[in-house]
Amino acid sequence: MDRSNIGQPGFNSFLNTDSKCAEWFQEVKKYIPYSTSKANQYVKPYPLCIQGGSGCYATDLEGVERMDCINAFTALIHGHAFPPVVRAVTEQLSRGTNFSYPTPAESALAKLLVERVSGAEIVRFGNSGTEAVMMAIKAARAYTGRDRIAKFEGAYHGYYDDIQVGTNSKPPDWGPEDAPASLPSSGGIPMHRVKETLVLPWNDADAVEQLLTRHKDELAAVIVDPLANRMGFISPAPGFLDRIRAITRAYGILVIFDEVISFRIGYGGAQARYGGDPDFTTFGKIMGGGFPIGATSGKAEVMSVFDPGSKGPRILSGGTYSANPVSMIAGLTAMEALDSSGYDRLEDMGNRLRTRLNDLFKKSNQSGQVTGEGSLFRVMMTDRPLKSYRDTMRIPDAETRCLRLFLALLDTGIMVGSNGLGCLTTPMGDEELDKIEAAFERALFTLDNE
Ligand SMILES: Cc1ncc(COP(=O)(O)O)c(C=O)c1O
Repeated sequence: MDRSNIGQPGFNSFLNTDSKCAEWFQEVKKYIPYSTSKANQYVKPYPLCIQGGSGCYATDLEGVERMDCINAFTALIHGHAFPPVVRAVTEQLSRGTNFSYPTPAESALAKLLVERVSGAEIVRFGNSGTEAVMMAIKAARAYTGRDRIAKFEGAYHGYYDDIQVGTNSKPPDWGPEDAPASLPSSGGIPMHRVKETLVLPWNDADAVEQLLTRHKDELAAVIVDPLANRMGFISPAPGFLDRIRAITRAYGILVIFDEVISFRIGYGGAQARYGGDPDFTTFGKIMGGGFPIGATSGKAEVMSVFDPGSKGPRILSGGTYSANPVSMIAGLTAMEALDSSGYDRLEDMGNRLRTRLNDLFKKSNQSGQVTGEGSLFRVMMTDRPLKSYRDTMRIPDAETRCLRLFLALLDTGIMVGSNGLGCLTTPMGDEELDKIEAAFERALFTLDNE
């Protein structure tokens, strides 16, 4: 299908019963549960199977090319097959892909993070955002000598036991608004671990203060995603993060900022925009240039628990592929190609896109809004202002309506997440914004007529 047709219907041949994707699904589901290895990838009746991508376009098995506005769940800031990363990785492949000792690319990427993000003074690499968060939690425990952690209801921080709690809580079990229940968000998590995690309500500083005060002597850390995707990118209320910082400092509780996604919104991360002065900051996604990566960083004092010479309970961490030179060189190349003017350009495009899509929602009489910051956007199927996770869970038919919009957008040549998540990349420009708007226009105005 021709790129110039984006915005017009006709891109969903993969749903035909005799399509290559349908055939692929029948075969692959014999070996891989529901055909996918990642949470949220499966969509009824089956997901797209992608054969490749270039810049801001990805091609499915049928040969249909769509604009990719989800980019490996926001991990690709330069789109697919970004030439500088392809060159750097190709050169690295011929020099070797992993060693038993550090490589220069590792120190260069660490230095880049330290220069950009105020909370990052010392950096330790892993292979995923989940690993980065896990290391930060262990480090906070080792440093404080306390076991429990606190997190915000609705926030996702990966699939490590302690933080797969209170991520998708629903009534009637979710407890009071100002003291959310600790509920497992996945099977397989021991209940004693679930109970160890204290769940906090987002943007309710008084309730947070009460809960932290009640548990002050048990808590090692509060983990905060300053702009939580699963919560619909609800910004922290003015002063909220600084208040958490003041309370935690008074009680000797550490603060972990999970910037695995929010590092997309600015050169200095979300902490440069919202404050909060975290002890630890975790990274992943865009920082790997399209390759597996995670980083746990923090103030030198608390990161000292990783120091081989440290006297206290030292953190033993790091796997065979941690800081492998392919991920390091890919990440370094991608991040060097994203200077502060690149961030500004993405933010300007993001602001314009959100305004245009919000106008479309109003004109189409569909209840919905587009939230987000910088290059991130998310469709939320309500006009009401959103202040907390629970507001997002009270949207009528949110999931069904969002899925219908997702399929309608696919059919007009645009890929977003099936939960409404989307993001922009550096190969995009005004032409791509026009196409995204055209696709949303068609999808929103036809949604109820189909
Ligand atoms: C805020 C946040 N933290 C952590 C993670 C986990 O990262 P990964 O999927 O690389 O394990 C994610 C993944 O989406 C995330 O959004």
